[in-house]
Amino acid sequence: MRVQVAIVGSGPAGLLLGQLLEQAGIRTAIVESRSREYVLGRIRAGVLESGTVALLERAGVADRLHEESLVHEGFDLAFSGRRVRIDLQALTGRSVSVYGQTEVTKDLMDARKAPGFYEARDVAVHSFESGTPYVTFNENQKIDCDFIAGCDGFHGVCRASVPAEKITLFEKTYPFGWLGILSDTPPVSEELIYVSHERGFALCSQRSRTRSRYYLQCPLSEQVDEWPDERFWAELRRRLPADAAQNLVTGPSIEKSIAPLRSFVAEPLAFGRLFLAGDAGHIVPPTGAKGLNLAASDVYYLSEALIAFYKGNESQLKAYSAKALARVWKAERFSWWMTKLLHGFPEEGSFGRHMQLAELEYIAGSRAAQTALAENYVGLPY
Ligand code: FAD
Ligand code: PHB
Repeated sequence: MRVQVAIVGSGPAGLLLGQLLEQAGIRTAIVESRSREYVLGRIRAGVLESGTVALLERAGVADRLHEESLVHEGFDLAFSGRRVRIDLQALTGRSVSVYGQTEVTKDLMDARKAPGFYEARDVAVHSFESGTPYVTFNENQKIDCDFIAGCDGFHGVCRASVPAEKITLFEKTYPFGWLGILSDTPPVSEELIYVSHERGFALCSQRSRTRSRYYLQCPLSEQVDEWPDERFWAELRRRLPADAAQNLVTGPSIEKSIAPLRSFVAEPLAFGRLFLAGDAGHIVPPTGAKGLNLAASDVYYLSEALIAFYKGNESQLKAYSAKALARVWKAERFSWWMTKLLHGFPEEGSFGRHMQLAELEYIAGSRAAQTALAENYVGLPY
């Protein structure tokens, strides 16, 4: 078959790109190595910037989001037994929306009418440095195209197909992970709480008024089965400020997983007729809630550039990589800074802990510092 843009990966980046291009009359096909059910079952992001919401509106997939998402005008930082509210609305005039990545993915899948090939085996991308790229999969399937969009996440095949001398990778790994739990229990608080505690970081998030999502910093050496629900709840309670700990409603977990934390950027994001977008090109630690939102801003730049190309203007495609990376690096900085501020780093000793507490105290007392935090959290403009 032949399409204009072959998209590898059916996560939020690939699906949103497909939707925006199809709306503009550009034919696409999506090739995904997993099943639809598997993709929909992955519990990941929960916080959408207003720019991401606007892009989903533009893509015509925001009706359920508007009905079901929770608009959050602030969140709490908790440390030394106190809670400091970061009033996003007052500081920036903007808010964020709590709506699960699973729901975004479902809305995009439901809207898509163009071809999607799921459970594709041996996906490979070819000839993207010449003028005639194509994608192959299964025994004998082939998609000819003008462009390939590599939206296949961190472990995908697209970035890995670029010759090593054409790409530079920047990476930082962290010596801990996030143990996450999903439970059908009312959230401990109306807004999110990011907790910096001597025993390690904790995050109280949510998916709805009846479904909670909690995370604990844990050593990378630990396995999920070492964390029965009772141990998770007991450890979370110890890290929460007293008033929150009192309100905590516990219940059986419906999902539990450990995610490693990583900062990663590939440069550039464009290789001839192959373009990387989302986690295929960069990863942030989840502390700033930026991963899905960066996938959305990449897709915004890439869809605009491809639409301009088919109208006869090639310059935006040439600018895609630099434009997307400029926003990516700022989100990398913010995510790295939030991670350093809030997690336990025993190797930094008590001096390191004092630096964190001094910075938290400074934020608590300075509107300027709160504004800097808030404008990054709600999302820098694009
Ligand atoms: P993915 O969602 O990874 O999609 C890539 C797709 O490509 C997958 O479906 C995969 O199966 C497919 N694929 C892989 N290899 C191949 C292949 N060879 N051929 C074909 N298909 C392939 N971000 C936020 O913005 N806010 C948050 O609050 C947040 N919280 C997070 C919490 C956790 C615990 C984690 C792990 C992540 C979180 N993120 C968050 C990050 C966010 O989930 C990712 O940034 C987002 O999924 C990126 O979307 P993507 O489409 O680029 O990649
Ligand atoms: C989530 O709800 O999964 C979530 C929220 C905020 C973050 C990270 C993850 O910073």
